[in-house]
Amino acid sequence: MSNRRVVLLGGSGFVGTQLTCRLAEQFDEVVVLTRRAQRVRTVRTMHNVEAREVNVHDAEALAAALTDATAVINLVGILNEGSHSSESSFTGAHSGLTEKVLAACVAGGVGRYLHMSALHADAENGSSEYLRTKGSAEDLVRNTNGVQWTIFQPSIIFGEHDAFFNRFAGLLRALPVFPLAVPDARMAPVFVGDVCRVMIDSIDDPDAVGAAIQLCGPHDYTLRELVQYTADAAGLSRKIIGLPDWAARLQARVMEFVPGKPFTRDNYLSLQTASVCADGCPRQPTSLDAVVPRYIGTEDWSGRLQKRRAAARR
Ligand SMILES: NC(=O)c1ccc[n+]([C@@H]2O[C@H](COP(=O)([O-])OP(=O)(O)OC[C@H]3O[C@@H](n4cnc5c(N)ncnc54)[C@H](OP(=O)(O)O)[C@@H]3O)[C@@H](O)[C@H]2O)c1
Repeated sequence: MSNRRVVLLGGSGFVGTQLTCRLAEQFDEVVVLTRRAQRVRTVRTMHNVEAREVNVHDAEALAAALTDATAVINLVGILNEGSHSSESSFTGAHSGLTEKVLAACVAGGVGRYLHMSALHADAENGSSEYLRTKGSAEDLVRNTNGVQWTIFQPSIIFGEHDAFFNRFAGLLRALPVFPLAVPDARMAPVFVGDVCRVMIDSIDDPDAVGAAIQLCGPHDYTLRELVQYTADAAGLSRKIIGLPDWAARLQARVMEFVPGKPFTRDNYLSLQTASVCADGCPRQPTSLDAVVPRYIGTEDWSGRLQKRRAAARR
């Protein structure tokens, strides 16, 4: 059998790091294309993983990197636009880059293309620019002949080093009273390990070709429930105040000028779409309780959580 090589774009991030480790156990060679090889620290020590510094927006460089790959996995995604170039705009990072990757895959005879999107991405009706440009990228994938594609549409993804629970835990530690925008937004957090398993299994699964796979965890939650869960896991007693809509919009307007853009108007608009799976869609098995306390929690977390639940039942 010939050398099986998987090439990742966006492989230096939260999902990409986990995915690379698992791919390295099953494939001969895993190549992570990155704009900064320095970022790919954790996985660089694995003997069959290469972090290659490439400008993925350069069509020629991309074609050279992807040619003859067994599979190409595109994980590139941004929640906030950068201001310095069109390549870090939603359009540039999502649909613009996807178009170039697809062209390189077709020209380079790539066997499989896995595309990371988001739940309810929709070019026409998405509630935010994030969801609309993710939807445009999906449309490009669906309309490309000559590549065997699979699209993945997760709700929020959790696991060690995630942006969601870690960020809320940090904010909760800093604020005794927590003003929460869009507290009734709904989501179904899915464990990064489950996401990676489904993606890797799909590579050699003919039934996954041409499919869009929704990825949700076992339960749906409101944002308020998840923030309360984070406070409990971190051992923090905090008052969480759900903001009315006008105040949430104002918060987004102000916070997008804070360095790191912790919350933006586009994030606010994304939250208007429930990030939960359709009825009857298979759910991924790993619960929050099985994982989150390990990286957010304190040692007596489970005892306190049980007490809180018992008190809630009384
Ligand atoms: N995490 C979640 O809860 C979640 C939920 C739904 C969907 N998703 C999707 O899953 C994918 C992975 O998410 P993640 O949480 O792992 O993201 P992440 O940690 O922010 O990593 C994103 C990666 O994309 C690359 N990237 C960012 N902007 C780029 C640009 N303008 N051009 C080229 N590369 C760029 C970065 O690579 P370099 O800096 O190394 O080049 C980075 O490694 C994304 O597509 C995201 O939209 C994530």
